[in-house]
Amino acid sequence: MKQDLLTFADWSSQELEALLELALKVKASPADYQQTLSGKSLVALFEKPSLRTRVSFDIGINKLGGHMVYLDSQAGKLSGREDTLDMGANLACWADAIIARVYSHKTLEDLASAAKVPVVNALCDLYHPCQALADYVSLHEHFGSVAGLPLSYIGDGNNVSHSLMLVGAILGADVRIITPPGYEPDAAMVEKARERAAQSGGSITISNDLAAAAGCKALYTDTWLSMGDTTPLEQIKAVFMPYQLNMSLLRQTGASVVMHCQPAHRDLEITSELVDSDYSLLFLQAENRMHAQNAILISLLGQ
Ligand code: CP
Ligand code: NVA
Repeated sequence: MKQDLLTFADWSSQELEALLELALKVKASPADYQQTLSGKSLVALFEKPSLRTRVSFDIGINKLGGHMVYLDSQAGKLSGREDTLDMGANLACWADAIIARVYSHKTLEDLASAAKVPVVNALCDLYHPCQALADYVSLHEHFGSVAGLPLSYIGDGNNVSHSLMLVGAILGADVRIITPPGYEPDAAMVEKARERAAQSGGSITISNDLAAAAGCKALYTDTWLSMGDTTPLEQIKAVFMPYQLNMSLLRQTGASVVMHCQPAHRDLEITSELVDSDYSLLFLQAENRMHAQNAILISLLGQ
């Protein structure tokens, strides 16, 4: 039976740890995997812009011996021209997998139900699982392990925070999500993450208070306005500015690294000084997107 990767919510700790190890192996010994997707064609379907996801999938698939066809929404939403279910069923006639970046998680579920090939979530309104895997690969490389690792996500309770929280909970990390009041992560998602953390030995803290980041090893942030959010920056800037990642917050918490999925907005959610500092894991995260995604594709398609 085909397996999709929409959220990681149904993966066990052991499965996810093995996937993380596979990403590190693919990174260390790329030559061992250069024929894994030989003869396979994948379609990447993007309703929203992308730099890292698009390029890291395309080059990564090439390194595994496969081929990627890129489709974007030149004329608005991809689902506008034909029914999403029909699109999924058609693409599966030719492609061995579908990678999709969409506005609504429901679009991914529809694609997955109609396509007889695996569907991979390349970001939606609720999740960014490929990003989270790359982030924990980066933390594992930097700190040697993820279980018990205290990290704080500070900013908007969005798709990136959801996946960081969920994947961290499954891997047993101590994840703290700190947002301005009214910008907390989705409550059902928090509950799901807490259930997984209870099984793995991890923990999930939700707070509006920056003091909750004390003692964390890593501080993570993301844009205050996700793609598709048309709220004017000036309307939210004053609320978010106290949550900026800067040198003073880093020193206050005692963290030794800063993270951001990028694109970063310098001197808004993170200072330029930190992006360019030795504390930054930003480009390690970006590099690991490709290795993490290749591990995902090998696990879904490699046999
Ligand atoms: N982090 C990330 O997904 O970047 P892109 O939006 O450029 O793909
Ligand atoms: N939260 C951001 C992530 C971009 C990679 C967005 O959805 O726009």
